[in-house]
Amino acid sequence: MESPQPMVLANARLATMAAPVSGRGAVVIAGDRILWAGAEADLPAEHARAERRDMEGRLITPAPIDCHTHLVHGGNRAREFEMRLEGASYEEIARAGGGIVSTVAATRAASEDDLLVSALPRLDALLAEGVSTVEIKSGYGLDIDTELAMLRTARRLADLRPVRVRTTFLGAHAVPKGHEADAYIDQICLPALRAAHAEGLVDAVDGFCEGIAFSAPQIARVFDAARALGLPVKLHAEQLSHQGGTALAARYGALSVDHVEYADDDDARALAAAGTVAVLLPGAFYFIRETQLPPVAAFRAHGVPMALATDCNPGSSPLTSLLLTMNMACTFFRLTPAEALRGITANAARALGLDDCGTIAAGKRADLAVWDVETPAELAYRIGFNPLHARIFGGRPC
Ligand code: NIG
Ligand code: FE
Repeated sequence: MESPQPMVLANARLATMAAPVSGRGAVVIAGDRILWAGAEADLPAEHARAERRDMEGRLITPAPIDCHTHLVHGGNRAREFEMRLEGASYEEIARAGGGIVSTVAATRAASEDDLLVSALPRLDALLAEGVSTVEIKSGYGLDIDTELAMLRTARRLADLRPVRVRTTFLGAHAVPKGHEADAYIDQICLPALRAAHAEGLVDAVDGFCEGIAFSAPQIARVFDAARALGLPVKLHAEQLSHQGGTALAARYGALSVDHVEYADDDDARALAAAGTVAVLLPGAFYFIRETQLPPVAAFRAHGVPMALATDCNPGSSPLTSLLLTMNMACTFFRLTPAEALRGITANAARALGLDDCGTIAAGKRADLAVWDVETPAELAYRIGFNPLHARIFGGRPC
């Protein structure tokens, strides 16, 4: 087979998240891969005659990656939003039978086609900001059939749009009505996990370790099952209280722990030792009006990689913008714009266990975003403005 013709994206500013490039940069792509990236003055002679596209000084970054979403779900929870504005807390609503289990009812009532149709506009909103890869969780089925339907729907999205989808099994998201937590894990969650894995639908296994969901020992049983199947784990941990989920996840070598507002210095140390990414979700922090800030200084001090994601879900974060997520991470959590950009690119890839994307370097996938801005900081700075000029997915502008 003939090798694909290289193309040079020239006269660009580059934020590679790998080797720094100052001044005019160029990226050479061929097929779905990056062949070379660097200062235009250093462009290897072999590419001098390749087709050249003038980027007119625009910024090229790795395409954003949304590494934590619940994009596939039925219904919405606007009524709970009103209730919270009238004074009810997120936890009170959950304990009174609203919250996650109300979305479970709407998701069970939806067909796979309904789920697909309702997820598409949310996916399109992410793609409009250049996103190339989206993680999508189950967890609003809480029965075997609906958990599988959510994962199948998530995978179907990648047939309909130019995007890569990673699916995460989140059977341990909430205890469904009429069940007891341990029995639910044994009788539904673990059989659903094995069935979903047998269909090839599971890239990772997640859980919700919280007072209103599952305890650390219960999550450990789900993680043991994941380990037996050879699947990596991640965890919603330390969102509303300190339950020990972060330390547990680190012991299992988790890809990521997510939320982590209530994590402490020991947790940060454990994450660093395990190489686990802390995924910060400022949309949920904002939307449920949290006040506890994640221990960003400890994460920095111990060298814990920080990623950012929308946590797009109907209850705690009906958010479909990674650019706004960056802005919120900077304003609320005091991340630097450079940390925020790393959080939606290189560290988001790492949170998904992907090593072929998230940076601009030879051999990586040509998943790129071209922005009408001069500096990376401008991406985090604006609120509700989308400066995307072009999105390149697997080497193709689309
Ligand atoms: O990531 N924390 C748990 N799960 C979701 C919220 C789900 C919901 O309220 O529907 C989250 O914030
Ligand atoms: Fe979540």
